[in-house]
Amino acid sequence: MLDFEIKPLTDFKELRTLDFMDDGSDPLGVHNFAQVKAQSYGRNNLSVIWGVRSDRGLIGFFSISMSSIQTKKLEPVEHVPDAPTIYSYPVVLLGQLGVDREQRHQGIGSMMIKFCVGLAQELSGRIGCRYVVLQTSQNRTNLYHNLRFVQSSKPPTDHKVWMYRKLA
Ligand SMILES: CC(C)(COP(=O)(O)OP(=O)(O)OC[C@H]1O[C@@H](n2cnc3c(N)ncnc32)[C@H](O)[C@@H]1OP(=O)(O)O)[C@@H](O)C(=O)NCCC(=O)NCCS
Repeated sequence: MLDFEIKPLTDFKELRTLDFMDDGSDPLGVHNFAQVKAQSYGRNNLSVIWGVRSDRGLIGFFSISMSSIQTKKLEPVEHVPDAPTIYSYPVVLLGQLGVDREQRHQGIGSMMIKFCVGLAQELSGRIGCRYVVLQTSQNRTNLYHNLRFVQSSKPPTDHKVWMYRKLA
């Protein structure tokens, strides 16, 4: 069992040395984000980019931000009955998630998602937050279903679907 260190990145150079492609393509733009956008997002407070390190060095990253989700993207059962005029709910957005190609299928992606849910859970006691949400491709939904995320029934946009997990 490997030991991991998970903490916000301040130096983004190392991120550019990793491979976040998916079978030679980048359908969700994760590799491009790591190569081109991460530094600007991190330095301008658009996201916090967290790095995951093992004894092999940096092996993965994810980005998280405050956000909101329109209630119409959620199933009717999620609507708060006595807040009918609220058109969106506060959420934590898991914006990007990538594990280096060499390190996949060892549970590292799942561990990062659980870490985000734990962080959002902790924050929701201090800043109102109802869900963790993300967009993914239809062929990736299993990873999130296994961690109790629900898929929005809204039709995909740009081949991406919304998924959400309610915080306790
Ligand atoms: C998606 C991604 C982050 C998953 O990372 P990962 O570390 O491989 O994730 P996990 O190991 O937790 O899970 C991946 C699969 O391995 C399986 N798995 C988990 N632990 C395992 C283990 N010890 N041994 C074998 N398989 C394992 C999981 O069940 C899962 O199977 P599934 O795809 O059928 O659901 C990674 O593939 C990636 O970076 N892809 C490119 C970028 C991308 O698509 N990002 C997602 C944006 S939403």
